[in-house]
Amino acid sequence: MRIPLLAGNWKMYKTVTEAVEFVRRLKEALSGVRGVEVAVCPPFTALYAVARELAGGNIALGAQNMYWVEEGAYTGEVSPVMLKEIGCRYVILGHSERRQYFGENDENVNAKVKAALKHGLVPIVCVGERLEEREAGQTEEVIAGQVRRSLAGLSGAELAGLVVAYEPVWAIGTGRTALPEDAQQVNAFIRRLLAEMGGREAARQVRIQYGGSVKPENAAELLGQPDIDGALVGGASLKVDSFAGIVRAAVRG
Ligand code: 13P
Repeated sequence: MRIPLLAGNWKMYKTVTEAVEFVRRLKEALSGVRGVEVAVCPPFTALYAVARELAGGNIALGAQNMYWVEEGAYTGEVSPVMLKEIGCRYVILGHSERRQYFGENDENVNAKVKAALKHGLVPIVCVGERLEEREAGQTEEVIAGQVRRSLAGLSGAELAGLVVAYEPVWAIGTGRTALPEDAQQVNAFIRRLLAEMGGREAARQVRIQYGGSVKPENAAELLGQPDIDGALVGGASLKVDSFAGIVRAAVRG
């Protein structure tokens, strides 16, 4: 049984004060919720304060990026050791905004995934096609390339323990959600690829999320699909009511 993971990617939103206030309210809103896993991924500046606020509870903490080296002269970067020490469990890697604005590619993502695993962090590896690629009928080809290169060289056990997030780029921040059956089709395709790469057992265990304009109103139908094991939520994770609504939809799904 795969436990759904609902992760809030806050992107570049919320100061430390806002972040701490938010998780205080989120803890209250989600008290008593069982059967799903919840994580928040604040900006780097808020991670430590949010970690303290979440300590001892069951909401997990994630970062939105990291570098693959443990320490060194890399101005502006943050290492897996640093994230682990403050209590991060997850790290989002290869988000399409990192690929689009900061020049990340599958090879960088692969190095980051390996470093995260080495330091006991669970990578949430993002893949997704652009609109012109979908319209040209290239979705599976694009996704296959991203998955194979980003996750190259991992063992079946390593693949089993990570999280893949399918986020079609055209659905991110646009209000345009993938149809549940289309998202299901791509998630099932990713699972088949992972079976080829790491064996059937790894593919059975790995969690594959959907992300892109997930809201309380569409979450139940998306999360009810057999190969959608949770959501990576942007905009709707910034408000306690909407994020909690999505978490509750996952409990029902
Ligand atoms: P939105 O939910 O705002 O579309 O963002 C999705 C996303 O990029 C999550 O990583």
